[in-house]
Order: sequence, then C-alpha cells, then structure tokens
Amino acid sequence: MAQYPPNPAWKPALASSLSSQPVTFFQLATVSAPLTPHCRTLTLSGFFGEMPYAAATAIAADQQNPPGAESDILYVASDGRSQKFAELEVSQAVEAVFFFPGLWSQFRIRGSAFPISAGGRCGQLEQRGRSAVAAHMLLPEGWDWEKEVLKVWERQDKTMIKSKYPVSTAEKPVPDDFRLLVIVPEEVQQLLPGDNKALTWTATTAVNGTAVDWVCIEDVLLHKRSSKL
Ligand SMILES: Cc1cc2nc3c(=O)[nH]c(=O)nc-3n(C[C@H](O)[C@H](O)[C@H](O)COP(=O)(O)O)c2cc1C
Repeated sequence: MAQYPPNPAWKPALASSLSSQPVTFFQLATVSAPLTPHCRTLTLSGFFGEMPYAAATAIAADQQNPPGAESDILYVASDGRSQKFAELEVSQAVEAVFFFPGLWSQFRIRGSAFPISAGGRCGQLEQRGRSAVAAHMLLPEGWDWEKEVLKVWERQDKTMIKSKYPVSTAEKPVPDDFRLLVIVPEEVQQLLPGDNKALTWTATTAVNGTAVDWVCIEDVLLHKRSSKL
C-alpha cells in the first residue's frame, strides 16, 4: 500500500483552525442504501495517535503506547450500536464538514471511514481500516492498536458519552461497544471566507506507486451564470 505523509500540506491549516476553539463539533455524512445521504453531528477527538495520555492516567506504563505517533487521520469516539456503523458496512464513502465561526471558514474532508474496536471485533472492514490508517501514520516502535483504543476510552467523559449516544456496555477494560470511527482523507477542501474561493488538496500517488503527495489547487466555487438566465 502507498505511504501517505502523516503531516500533509493541508494539516497545519486545519490544525490551526481547530486550535481556535476549545471543542470541535462537525457534521459527518454517510451513505445509506439505496444511495440516501445521512448526516449527524459528531465531536472531533483529534488526529489519530496524537492524543496524549490523561495527566492522571491509571494505565500502567507497560500498557501505554510510546509517544510520537503522527497522522492526518481524523477520528471520533462512538458506540458500535449506532446506525452510522451499519452504513459503513454498505459504503465507506463519507464527507465531513467543519465550520469555524471565528474564522468564517469551512473544511470539507472527503474519504473513507472505518470502525476501530478493542480486539478488532469488526472483521474485514476493520482490518481494511487498520491497514488504511497505518498507511497514513508515522508509528514509533512498539505502538499498538489495543493500547491506543484503551487510551482513547480512558479519556472519554463518561457523562458526555451518555448524552451523546447509548450507554456503553460494561466490559473491562474497554466496553465491547466502544468504537472509534476513523476518517481516512482522500480530498480536503478549505472554503475561504468571502471571495468565493476554495483550496482543494488531492492525494496523488507517485509514478512508482509507493509514495503519495498532496497537490493543492485554488478553486472558484460559483460558476458564472449564463447570460440567458
Ligand atoms: C454536539 C453533539 C456532539 C455529538 N458528538 C458525538 C460523538 O462524538 N460521537 C457520537 O457517536 N455521537 C455524537 N453525537 C450524537 C450524534 O449526533 C448522533 O445522534 C449519534 O451518533 C447517532 O447517530 P447515527 O444514528 O447516525 O449513528 C453528538 C451530538 C451532538 C448534538
């Protein structure tokens, strides 16, 4: 599989917009059969692998991932019983939209989404997801999927989880129904304030098929109206 840079050219622009607010909600559209869009509001957890351990973590040092993982994979914490995961079984195509009110700008992230669980309980789809995510990551030696899911679970505010989606089941250390939804980007568009302009970054595989670069073009969003209208 081709290797993507964990810090592509669009990431600083998105990361700087994200840092302009304490918490980021965004909309994620999936496709349910037959070809019906389905959209909901989610809370961004960050770039996969980059979340630090809780300051007062109860996870033993030998159960922790080493620091230093980097990626351009966006992810959220969720519950495997929610409808979005049934839709990902049908199609992994998604579009996420972020609006930053303080900057009056938006980002659209198009790509594929996958479930990630403790113990890899989502079969082939999760296996494909893990491979796709790994191709977008810089991984320090000894980094491990199970440790990462445990880290994210420990950082969940359990009260918030109850208000966001059904109460998770009680299995330890990570409930069976706890899921990460990871978004593997293929195209990123920044809709700039005013001026009707957008920057669009597209992932392009090098001729030898092993490395990927992101190419940016500037778009004009609205097409000129025909003089007959
Ligand atoms: C502000 C806000 C933040 C939310 N954040 C999340 C989240 O991070 N994860 C999640 O699974 N659901 C979250 N939800 C709930 C979802 O919008 C949605 O109702 C739920 O995930 C079920 O969606 P589905 O039936 O499309 O799977 C949030 C809702 C609101 C209003």
